[in-house]
Amino acid sequence: MTGAAVALRNVTKRFASHLALDDVTLTVAARESVVILGPSGCGKTTLLRLIAGLDVPDEGEIWLGNVQAAGPRRNLLPPYRREIGFVFQDLALWPHLTVAGNLQFVLDALKIPRMERSRRIDDALKLVRIDGFATRHPHELSGGEQQRVELARALVGSPRLLLLDEPLSSLDAELRAAMRSELARLQRTLALTTVYVTHDPEDAAVLADRVIEMRAGRIVAVTEPRRTEERA
Ligand SMILES: Nc1ncnc2c1ncn2[C@@H]1O[C@H](COP(=O)(O)OP(=O)(O)OP(=O)(O)O)[C@@H](O)[C@H]1O
Ligand SMILES: [Mg+2]
Repeated sequence: MTGAAVALRNVTKRFASHLALDDVTLTVAARESVVILGPSGCGKTTLLRLIAGLDVPDEGEIWLGNVQAAGPRRNLLPPYRREIGFVFQDLALWPHLTVAGNLQFVLDALKIPRMERSRRIDDALKLVRIDGFATRHPHELSGGEQQRVELARALVGSPRLLLLDEPLSSLDAELRAAMRSELARLQRTLALTTVYVTHDPEDAAVLADRVIEMRAGRIVAVTEPRRTEERA
């Protein structure tokens, strides 16, 4: 009963003999934006996958609000019931569906009333500035456009928690800056709790309430930068 949106307690995850997460304890407050930085292979994606329920810890517990979502080698809450929107590095758009179809799929799974669906899809696509592409298929989009659709797909279900794994990596500098500001705005207006993995210190400067640095499966530093937008 901590009021935390997400809590990991002493979470360890091994792949064969490799320790991908080593006794990680982390809480994220409701509406907080946490940015995770760290070198390739340090366990960032593994951490997000465990929060999303796509994988289970070997040891420790994961809590979402007051609900225990996972324990040692056990998922207690399936991914689709976690009210999480995510953009993962390797989770592509569904190739056989149009852009609108990709978003529709999420709304169908959530049983959103039919009348509401097209408005929600329009809104989400506008948000990422890609509303002209609703009827295209993923292979008809550039990498950056696909990434924006992935972001729209993560947002369309109005998640409480947003997990983003390098969501802007395919965008050019200008679009990246624009999307970053847009995300910061969304976090505020939608009261989102966000865990955001990046290699870009600028992302952290704009988006982070708290920056978590990881090395070799462990959290090695936690800092609280003041957000750029809040600087007078
Ligand atoms: N399914 C898996 N099977 C075996 N090893 C894995 C698996 N998933 C991840 N690993 C290993 O666990 C470690 C952490 O991987 P992870 O994907 O979490 O790193 P990361 O911090 O996201 O790196 P990057 O910045 O390159 O995306 C790596 O050494 C990786 O090789
Ligand atoms: Mg990764």
